[in-house]
Amino acid sequence: MKLPSSSLLFTLTILFCSLNSLGFTNLLTQQTCKNCSKTDPNISYKFCVESFKSNRRSQHAKSLQELGLISIQITRHNVTDTKARINDLLEKNKSLDPFIKECLDDCLEVYSDTIPTFREAIRDYRAKRYANCNVKLSSVIDASTTCEDGFKQKNNDAVSPLTKRNKDTFQLSAISLSIVNMLVDRDI
Ligand SMILES: *[C@@H]1O[C@H](CO)[C@@H](O)[C@H](O)[C@H]1NC(C)=O
Ligand SMILES: *[C@@H]1O[C@H](CO)[C@@H](O)[C@H](O)[C@H]1NC(C)=O
Ligand SMILES: *[C@@H]1O[C@H](CO)[C@@H](O)[C@H](O)[C@H]1NC(C)=O
Ligand SMILES: *[C@@H]1O[C@H](CO)[C@@H](O)[C@H](O)[C@H]1NC(C)=O
Repeated sequence: MKLPSSSLLFTLTILFCSLNSLGFTNLLTQQTCKNCSKTDPNISYKFCVESFKSNRRSQHAKSLQELGLISIQITRHNVTDTKARINDLLEKNKSLDPFIKECLDDCLEVYSDTIPTFREAIRDYRAKRYANCNVKLSSVIDASTTCEDGFKQKNNDAVSPLTKRNKDTFQLSAISLSIVNMLVDRDI
């Protein structure tokens, strides 16, 4: 019997997920996450290890340099998804509260601005211009706090629909930044 390709894909996905949950993490990732969480209290070791599991290349990374680039790419992928989610919220929800809509518009703008920023950050990273890369990654961290803080501006019970995503972006970019800073120290 021929399996439809979607169920084959499903089976493979399940297989990969179970391999991952068995602790399919390499030593470099563990050490790096340990160092990141030690130098930046905003980074949780568990979150860090989990986030690297979402990119299979991280399991084969052989250097901190390689892992740093993967980390930036994971962050970019995550932010791109968040941007799509905001677009979705704005387009699909016809009964959005005007204040929430305004906040979402602002979030869309700050997150859209990070797309070219990531391009530049990766270019800087590859050229080992770590100080410049640091500035760009810091602006991605700022985007996540700017978005989240927008919802707190009004003294009502406005609930941000993006809290988890903003927190994820905050930590993911903090991990990238932490690795970039380790590389600076190493190059001195
Ligand atoms: C983590 O920190 C220790 C101690 O500072 C260092 O020896 C090690 O090389 C670091 N590991 C990574 C992957 O940066
Ligand atoms: C941790 O996050 C806060 C903002 O929430 C920031 O002010 C602080 O500088 C961060 N700490 C480090 C070590 O980056
Ligand atoms: C974004 O990152 C978080 C934390 O690692 C993860 O739970 C989530 O699935 C990621 N989303 C995407 C689309 O990669
Ligand atoms: C639409 O937005 C309002 C708040 O502005 C929220 O209460 C409602 O649950 C949202 N509906 C959907 C389908 O997301």
